[in-house]
Amino acid sequence: MDLKEKIRVIDGFPVDGISFKDITTLLKDAGALNECINQMAERFKDTQVDIIVGPESRGFILATPLAYVMNTGFVPVRKPGKLPGETIKYEYSLEYGMDSLEIHKDAIKPGQKVLIIDDLLATGGTMFAAAKLVEKLGGDVVGLGFLIELEDLNGREKLSDYKVESLVKYN
Ligand code: PRP
Ligand code: MG
Repeated sequence: MDLKEKIRVIDGFPVDGISFKDITTLLKDAGALNECINQMAERFKDTQVDIIVGPESRGFILATPLAYVMNTGFVPVRKPGKLPGETIKYEYSLEYGMDSLEIHKDAIKPGQKVLIIDDLLATGGTMFAAAKLVEKLGGDVVGLGFLIELEDLNGREKLSDYKVESLVKYN
């Protein structure tokens, strides 16, 4: 199955000049969702993975079913103020201003092998932050998986220390 055919592209959303990759059309299709999760599991079948992390919010949608299929637990990385327990924060700069992400301090044990999954690789800023949070807790980031990669934005370069897999590419 060609997963790209299942992704709807909406020009001009959220602002003029952006061509938005809408995964809701893939997600609502039972066969496509199944294929997407199975393809991702296949990419990491030879990698030892102890736990899967997903960044809020679209990362949750793909990371959790993959954790189920790969028989691991799931850990959320969230926007500030959402996690109830003790957290650590990673702050990073955007074109204008700052953003940050958090993870529970006790979410990852030192030495655990961690796979991080998100829907989309654009600049790589979100995934870089998630990887740094995992590493601050002593986790070993063994792979980064995306459904979509926007190749023109060179996010892969920012993530060059890691094994990066993406299922569908746009340029
Ligand atoms: C989108 C997307 C990725 C991120 C990719 O998330 O889901 O997480 O942007 O961009 P980057 O590679 O430049 O960091 P967004 O922040 O829009 O939030 P959402 O997942 O809650 O929709
Ligand atoms: Mg996101």
